Amino acid sequence: MIDPLTLNEFIVKKQDEVQFSSGELSQLLGAITLASKIVHREINKAGLLDITGSAGVQNIQGEDQQKLDVYANEKFKQALALRGHVCGIASEEEDDFVSFSNNNQSLSKYVVAYDPIDGSSNIDVNIPVGTIFSIYKRKSSNEKPVEISDFLRFGREQVAAGYVIYGSSTMLVYTTGQGVNGFTFDPSVGEFYLSHENMRIPERGSIYSINEGNADKFSEGAKCYLEACKSGNTLSGKPYSARYVGSLVADFHRNLIKGGIFIYPSYRGVPNGKLRLLYECNPLAFIVEQAGGSASDGNTRILDLTMNELHQRCPLFIGSKEMVTEAENLMRSEI
Ligand code: AHG
Ligand code: MN
Ligand code: MN
Repeated sequence: MIDPLTLNEFIVKKQDEVQFSSGELSQLLGAITLASKIVHREINKAGLLDITGSAGVQNIQGEDQQKLDVYANEKFKQALALRGHVCGIASEEEDDFVSFSNNNQSLSKYVVAYDPIDGSSNIDVNIPVGTIFSIYKRKSSNEKPVEISDFLRFGREQVAAGYVIYGSSTMLVYTTGQGVNGFTFDPSVGEFYLSHENMRIPERGSIYSINEGNADKFSEGAKCYLEACKSGNTLSGKPYSARYVGSLVADFHRNLIKGGIFIYPSYRGVPNGKLRLLYECNPLAFIVEQAGGSASDGNTRILDLTMNELHQRCPLFIGSKEMVTEAENLMRSEI
């Protein structure tokens, strides 16, 4: 059996289908995969180091080993600052956006927003976590440094989006608007290989993912939908299975492959839900739509939501198209 394509071979093969100039996407994804290989290495030592806090050991730069969120954030920021045609980044771990002004990076064409470690509370209990990223072409003139307006965009303007899941294997899944493809990391050679070509989410599944611990505070509509999932009063006519990992990337990835719906709704005391539009909801919404699924805030398509601030939160209903529609209809009927 011939080796499957590596990520770079795949990018070269698809070059004429994407809206990136030759070499740009390779460099952008090259920076992201480089950082993800470093994070993969640290996560796989989790059993040896307490990487959710200070491990009390020094890394090669002489820094104290930091909390993995911050550590991963630095690795992605360094990788993108040094290569990848990026003029600035926004991150869950940075209060404001970061402008890259060295060696005229500030004139580069792309901005990247990312959640360096999604589900980081699961690190020390060995449950899969992930990285989520979103790429836009800058809007402001590239004669000047990047501006906030380059990040406050509609999700439908993304030119690429993806995630890395550090699970039983480490996988990169991404889209540039030409479908969704998944690559599995082989640590023995340090390459990501095409393993899931043209991923499509089943129109319908039998899995629902929601933190039922918050159910007492849910809206009547959300409570009604939750009951339907349990009673079988749904499209499938039988009860769904509950699966909730506590890492959005892990719940999303399972539903992408098996079909299902993930919901993080707004509820009493949490009016906009918990998840962030820029670097969690928009990139996964781009991916799920490219795989034939859908994503909304319960009313409006995620990719059409107006973004007013960098860390803006929004409710998220994402997954199999028929299940998202069913949840939206039930939510509306109960308003
Ligand atoms: P992060 O670790 O980047 O802050 O993201 C955690 C998110 C998401 O991964 C997950 O689905 C959700 O938090 C779980 O929240 P609850 O514990 O409130 O259910
Ligand atoms: Mn997250
Ligand atoms: Mn995070």
